[in-house]
Amino acid sequence: MTQANDNVHLIDHPLVQHKLSLMRNKEASTNSFRRLLNELSMLMAYEITRDVPMQEVEIETPLEKMKARVIDGKKLVFVSILRAGTGILDGMLNVVPGARVGHIGLYRDPKTLTAVEYYFKMPQNMEERDVIVVDPMLATGNSAIAAVERLKELHPKSIKFVCLLTCPEGVATMRKAHPDVPIYTAAIDRELNDHGYILPGLGDAGDRMFGTK
Ligand code: URA
Repeated sequence: MTQANDNVHLIDHPLVQHKLSLMRNKEASTNSFRRLLNELSMLMAYEITRDVPMQEVEIETPLEKMKARVIDGKKLVFVSILRAGTGILDGMLNVVPGARVGHIGLYRDPKTLTAVEYYFKMPQNMEERDVIVVDPMLATGNSAIAAVERLKELHPKSIKFVCLLTCPEGVATMRKAHPDVPIYTAAIDRELNDHGYILPGLGDAGDRMFGTK
């Protein structure tokens, strides 16, 4: 993992980059797109959770008692921005099955490209939890900014934002609105087009994941 710029972390591991390239290919089927996203999310989770707090618990090996280090999964909350966040969420839950899950329903108004909230459900006691927000594409940044704004109202201990792909515009907008929230991404693409799509990108992540187009 390398630091692309201030608080932006590029997950440039060859396995991640390889899988992302396969996903970008327009010939990838819905099935393989979803499978790759799942695998990629597990690999990203490995990098993103490097610094999660650990606790010691007493266990017994077949030979003796010992104090062993474990993650307190329940303190970690994955917040999925619907609907495309679901793909990353599933992969991350494979490797951190004890994590709690929150959902934020936001859709992009196709004319204004602004985020409109239609659903918000979080676990209780958010002030005790570390939050990892997941959404495959950080494009205009409007959904990410709105999601983080809402989450900050609940005063979690920390917030990280994870995406597959972003672009300079998305990074700049998010940085300006939430400079305290680190961004983890597998790529920073060239640009955003007039319709709010990332170029070269991978198309509409939700449609490709669910086969809705
Ligand atoms: N959302 C997507 O699914 N794709 C983009 O390129 C931008 C936003």
